[in-house]
Amino acid sequence: MTQQAQTHFGFEQVAEAEKARRVAEVFDSVAQKYDLMNDLLSGGLHRAWKAYAVAVANVQPGDKVLDIAGGTGDLARAFARKAGAYGEVMLTDINESMLRVGRDRLLDDGLAMPTVACDAEHLPWADNRFDLVSVAFGLRNMTHKDAALREMHRVLRPGGKLLVLEFSRVAKPLEKVYDWYSFQVLPRLGRLVAGDADSYRYLAESIRMHPDQDTLKSMMREGGFGHVDYHNLSGGVVALHVGIKC
Ligand SMILES: C[S@@+](CC[C@H](N)C(=O)[O-])C[C@H]1O[C@@H](n2cnc3c(N)ncnc32)[C@H](O)[C@@H]1O
Repeated sequence: MTQQAQTHFGFEQVAEAEKARRVAEVFDSVAQKYDLMNDLLSGGLHRAWKAYAVAVANVQPGDKVLDIAGGTGDLARAFARKAGAYGEVMLTDINESMLRVGRDRLLDDGLAMPTVACDAEHLPWADNRFDLVSVAFGLRNMTHKDAALREMHRVLRPGGKLLVLEFSRVAKPLEKVYDWYSFQVLPRLGRLVAGDADSYRYLAESIRMHPDQDTLKSMMREGGFGHVDYHNLSGGVVALHVGIKC
């Protein structure tokens, strides 16, 4: 019998196909309450982290932008306003429940944009197509992060920019309180507000399993990015990595 390739789902060791299925379950479960929970669990900070990413993106009128794992569309909305009528912004995600909430929210805001269900590890676009690619709080959930980063590099034009906004390794003095919040408070709030403790336990565990700032920087270099830098936000709770396709 052939051994199935293994990976992690939070702290659990699982077969790769099992991870994709369980990640899908998490986002099917949280989609309807995703925005409310984001505000509640981050105390609204996710808005500031995203605003910072949008400022660094520096999208210009007419730019072509691909938002990967875009979920309920916060970044895509901000980019669409900057790219304007002659620009092109695509909201994409592997999960249709999340995309549906995102598309509806964008339509409510008067923004109609292409909304595409696709796996970041196999992007359905030609090489060199986009000026900017972004992925916010999505890379952590992907099974083959190296393959996804290579795909992001492939679809960017030379000189184009990748932004990876993701939870990262907190500064030492914050570790204790951050662990308490992650493992004691998050799952309880998840159960109280969204009726789902497990998804929020997965959130805390998946953050701990995600590569730290320097490891992700090396992975982006290996994925083909000639220049990579990162900016720590909120003491490293989150990091914004910026990669340039040279
Ligand atoms: C925490 S949400 C982030 C949503 C949004 N970007 C934000 O910042 O609010 C993570 C998203 O990653 C998506 N995702 C997970 N694996 C993916 C993959 N392989 N390809 C594309 N999207 C994926 C999930 O479906 C989910 O919508």
